[in-house]
Amino acid sequence: MANANDPIVISGAGLWNPDYTISNDELVLAYNGYAEKFNAENAAGIEQGEVEAKPLSSAEFINKASGINNRYIYRKEGVLDINRMRPILEVRSNEEVSHQAEMAVNAAKKALEAANKKPEDVDVVIVACAYTQRSYPALAIEVQAELGIEGFGFDMLVACSAATFALQRAYEMISAGTAKCVLAINPELTSPQNNWRDRDSHFIFGDVATATIVERASSCQSEHSYEILDTKAVTSFSNNIRSNFGYTSYVDDTDPYGEDKFFIQNGRKVFKEVCPMAAEHISSQIDALGITVSDVTRWWLHQANINMNALIVKRLLGRPATADEAPIVLDQYANTASAGSLIAFNLHHKDLQAGDTGVICSFGAGYSIGSLVLRKR
Ligand code: COA
Repeated sequence: MANANDPIVISGAGLWNPDYTISNDELVLAYNGYAEKFNAENAAGIEQGEVEAKPLSSAEFINKASGINNRYIYRKEGVLDINRMRPILEVRSNEEVSHQAEMAVNAAKKALEAANKKPEDVDVVIVACAYTQRSYPALAIEVQAELGIEGFGFDMLVACSAATFALQRAYEMISAGTAKCVLAINPELTSPQNNWRDRDSHFIFGDVATATIVERASSCQSEHSYEILDTKAVTSFSNNIRSNFGYTSYVDDTDPYGEDKFFIQNGRKVFKEVCPMAAEHISSQIDALGITVSDVTRWWLHQANINMNALIVKRLLGRPATADEAPIVLDQYANTASAGSLIAFNLHHKDLQAGDTGVICSFGAGYSIGSLVLRKR
């Protein structure tokens, strides 16, 4: 149960960046090389109207339309090879730690350190992200074994809102007394599902892992902790962001690597529909808490598009937000699915003063919106 004398807190956060990065210039050079080669090879078909020519991409467009300049990538080899256009992920045996579990463990160790916790203090592991590399055994259980955690673990997929929805589950489990200390991890390995051959979406995603510890204030031994004042989630079905990749491809005789199996979206519609939904979601949540927007020191928003974030906070504040109020990380990280708002939290929370309020909010595929209102202790 919620307990005013012993509130539930976020007591530590971890961020793990992959070793490699790809700038817009590198990405566009490779894509345009691929597109020109495709167009040359298909010149006759294009001339006869049987094949659609590949349009060229531009780094200026990407920066202006999205705010993205760079992205981290788990494996860079292969992505910029115009004859491959996707990363090369080495196959690991069942005896080795899987790629996504390794990413998760890297971030988890940082969150444990920030919260001043040991694996034996944790009793639940949630791996929450947009994609998992297999269905079972759950990645969370593999992570649990790698770290030596007792208790239980499970995976959950809610696309861009997986991280915030997992924090809400953590809050509820601690509130219900079924967990004491939850490790929620977001190993966002997005690069395998990005269509690097598609001009409209090749620039969108980056890889990263974030992790968060949630516990009661009475067990918290962290320098920076945040009381969770409230959590709120909403979903509303939309096909505007979709991937049809799934385990039924084998039996429905569709191409398991067809275009519709990648991330696909109608970006314009998403922009138009999600911005008002997210602004309304947050304003009604903070209104219900008796807080006003001017009481909020920091907005840790989902990181998909800089213009979306600008519009949402302008709707909330009635004026543009400063970089300090609503930090942007997508310029360096691109869209990291559910991890974006937590990267912003990781990089921009230590300067808050006791009593300061902040809002974490994700929005994306589903549609799904998840938010938490925090107060620094
Ligand atoms: N390089 C150059 N031009 C490009 C391009 C590229 N890489 N990609 C698209 N264009 C062109 C389009 O073909 C279009 O040309 P036209 O006007 O001649 O038809 C023009 O640029 C505008 O394209 P559009 O897709 O309308 O751009 P946009 O301003 O909507 O920006 C997104 C595209 C994807 C950056 C933007 O819509 C977005 O981020 N939406 C929100 C997406 C989101 O949050 N998704 C959640 C994912 S989890």
